[in-house]
Amino acid sequence: MNKILNEDLLYTLSGLTTEEKNKLQGAQILITGCAGFLGYYIMHFLARFGNELGVKRVVALDNFKLGSPKWLKQIGNLDFVDVQTFDVASDDIASLPDADQCNYIIHMASIASPHFYRKYPIETLDANIWGLRSLLDFYKDKGIKGFLFYSSSEIYGDPDAESIPTDEEYRGFVSATGPRACYDESKRFGETMCMLFANQYNMPITVVRPFNNYGPGMKLSDQRVPADFAKNIYENSDIIMLSDGTPTRTFCYIADAVVGYLKALLYGKYDYFNIGISKPEISIRELAKIYVEKGRDVFGYAGSCKIKAAEEKEYLTHNPQRRCPNTQKAKSVLGYEAQINVAMGVERFLKYLKESARDEVIW
Ligand SMILES: NC(=O)c1ccc[n+]([C@@H]2O[C@H](COP(=O)([O-])OP(=O)(O)OC[C@H]3O[C@@H](n4cnc5c(N)ncnc54)[C@H](O)[C@@H]3O)[C@@H](O)[C@H]2O)c1
Repeated sequence: MNKILNEDLLYTLSGLTTEEKNKLQGAQILITGCAGFLGYYIMHFLARFGNELGVKRVVALDNFKLGSPKWLKQIGNLDFVDVQTFDVASDDIASLPDADQCNYIIHMASIASPHFYRKYPIETLDANIWGLRSLLDFYKDKGIKGFLFYSSSEIYGDPDAESIPTDEEYRGFVSATGPRACYDESKRFGETMCMLFANQYNMPITVVRPFNNYGPGMKLSDQRVPADFAKNIYENSDIIMLSDGTPTRTFCYIADAVVGYLKALLYGKYDYFNIGISKPEISIRELAKIYVEKGRDVFGYAGSCKIKAAEEKEYLTHNPQRRCPNTQKAKSVLGYEAQINVAMGVERFLKYLKESARDEVIW
C-alpha cells in the first residue's frame, strides 16, 4: 500500500477511542457514494482495519456516474466487502439482499465538485433528496445504531463577516435559484428530513457539514481547487487560479476529516456538526503559494502561479468569499479536533501522488 496512505489510515484509527472502536465490533455498514473522494479513503480504512475492528460486512453502493475506479474492484474482492452498482435515488434498497441486516448507514452519494454538480444538477438533487428519503424510510424501523448524512458547509452560503467563524446555528445566506442551488438547497432540505425522521422515529441520525477536504483519493480531474493545483504540480505546468485568489477557506486534510466522520457515525444520536479545521483561514492565492513551495520540495516543480478567467460561465457565481468553521461543538460533544495544518497536508498529498505515480496508480 502507498506509504503515505498507510500512515494516514493509522493516524485516522488512532483518533478513535476504544469505546468508539468497540462499537464497530460486529457492525454491518451500508455506504452510498463509495467510489468518490471520501469513499476512497473510507473504503481503504475499512479494507485495512475492518477485520481488526471486527466489522462483519460492508455493503458499498455507487452508480459510478463519474467512473468506476480500479481500486474499488480490488477492495470488492475482500470477503466481507460487497460492492454493488446501485443508484440510491431510483433503485429499490429492499432489493439488496443484505440491506436489512445493516446497522450503520453512511449516506455520502451526491456529486460534490461544483463543476460536476452544475453539469448534473438534477441527479445531485435527487441523491440528496430522494436517495436520502428512501434510506430513511427503509431504515426507520430497523433498529439501526447509526446513520450518517453528509450535508455540507455550503448550506451556510456566503456568510457575512460577523458570522465567521461559522457555528452550527448560523442559518445561512443561500440562493434558492442560483447555479449552486441544486447542491446547497438539497443539502438543506436533506438536513430537515434528518431532523424530522430523528424526531418522529427516534432514529440515531447524525449530520456532518464537511469544510473543504483534500488529500489522497481526490482525483486530479476532480476540478475542486486542491485537485486542480495538485494536477498542475504533477504535470509541472503553471498553477492557474480561476479567481483573483482572494476568497478564503480553511482546508481539512482527509485523514483528519474522516476521524470526525467516524466519531459522528458512532455517536449514535441526532445532532449536527461542522467537521473541518478552524485555522488557518487562507486565501486561494496563499494556498497556491503553499502548493508551489511544497511542489518544489516534493517534485522539483518549476512552475509559478497565474490568473486566468474560467471557461465555465458560472464558475464564480455565488462562490462564498469566506468559509471558516467554528469547530467547538464537535470538540466538546464528539471530542474531535483536526490537527494537520494545510502546509503539512499539501506536502503529504503531493508525496502520496508521487508514490502513486511510481506505482502507476494515478487515476
Ligand atoms: N469532499 C468534501 O470536501 C466535501 C465537502 C462538503 C460535503 N461533502 C459531501 O460528502 C459526500 C462525499 O463527497 P465526495 O467528495 O466523496 O464526493 P464525490 O463527488 O467525489 O463522490 C460522490 C460519489 O457519489 C456517487 N453518487 C452520486 N449520485 C449517486 C446516486 N444517485 N447513487 C449512487 N451513487 C451516487 C458518485 O458516483 C460518486 O462516486 C457528498 O455527499 C458531498 O456532498 C464533501
